[in-house]
Amino acid sequence: MPRISIVAKDGTVFEIQAESRTSVMENAVRNSVPGIEAECGGACACATCHVYVDDAWQEKVGPPGPMEADMLDFAYDVRPNSRLSCQIRIADALDGLVVHVPERQS
Ligand code: FES
Repeated sequence: MPRISIVAKDGTVFEIQAESRTSVMENAVRNSVPGIEAECGGACACATCHVYVDDAWQEKVGPPGPMEADMLDFAYDVRPNSRLSCQIRIADALDGLVVHVPERQS
């Protein structure tokens, strides 16, 4: 099971054993990570699951898809490493992934 780390805005690190094919957002919600609101439940329709992918992981995670990129327009303080966590699927290749929760959601 891949291990991921989600860093909350206060610096608390949530280390989570994540099942493959679940999303980063689902793991954040299940583990009560503060700051991941996920209002649309993962439908790529709210942008309240915004995260910053750690620099070391940006290439492996890749860029947002077209629908996700459109939705990111509604997120707060979007950066080149911004992704919607409901659109990042856990896979073995992402073992060790680190993402950061922004200061606030949209
Ligand atoms: S949970 Fe709504 S866009 Fe990700």
